[in-house]
Amino acid sequence: MEKRELLYEGKAKKLFATDDPGLVIQYFKDDATAFDGTKKATIASKGVINNACSEIFFRLLEGHGVRTHFVERLDEREMLCRRLDIVPVEMIVRNVMAGSLARRLGRPEGDRLAAPIVEYCYKSDALHDPLINRWHVTVLGFATGAEIDTMTAMALRVNEILTPFLAARKLLLVDMKLEFGRFQGDILLGDEICPDTCRFWDADTGRKLDKDRFRHDLGDVAEAYHEVHRRLTSPA
Ligand code: TMP
Ligand code: ASP
Repeated sequence: MEKRELLYEGKAKKLFATDDPGLVIQYFKDDATAFDGTKKATIASKGVINNACSEIFFRLLEGHGVRTHFVERLDEREMLCRRLDIVPVEMIVRNVMAGSLARRLGRPEGDRLAAPIVEYCYKSDALHDPLINRWHVTVLGFATGAEIDTMTAMALRVNEILTPFLAARKLLLVDMKLEFGRFQGDILLGDEICPDTCRFWDADTGRKLDKDRFRHDLGDVAEAYHEVHRRLTSPA
């Protein structure tokens, strides 16, 4: 397998073609942005940690029968993945009131939800990833009804698998953002699963151990990423 041209550069990752049209290389950068790229910094070793965390989660999910784009981690910053036709809908799964949901509804952060809430956002930086619903997804043709149902069921399944795995490592899975894509007629989980794309709170103290430390200038950002990785790689 040979690395070829840069296909796409996002805010936190680069995507490279390979000599196999069905495979791409996902390269994890240390760059961090928030608020649609208006706030920028680099977080030392973030890319290495996000690559490693994503590998752990993708392997766990594959072990539970959830199909993902993950093939193998190639090195510290690179992951070999199946090449997906990405569905332009970000799936948010929430277990605890936080972030934009808390803001939108005027609630304080921290209350456990009675059941998980799934939200859909249209993947568009220019439009600030607006919240949409199932009708927008199907009527505007972002995905078929069958596809959005599959993605929703998969997102809830991912939540069911990750929540106890993280709880055993003293991490509360507050919420997460998942992306899916089409691959040879199937829907696969794509993108990454890491402290950039999830909220992880220390189960005992509620300390935020994720990108919110960067978004809201809470300090000790790199340390929080390292702490998540340390817990994921320590025996439960
Ligand atoms: P939110 O509460 O800000 O809408 O975020 C919900 C989840 O989505 C949270 O776990 C962080 C993640 N997220 C991303 O992965 N990318 C983004 O651009 C945003 C705003 C949130
Ligand atoms: N990824 C988003 C951005 O750049 C924001 C976020 O994660 O909060 O702007």
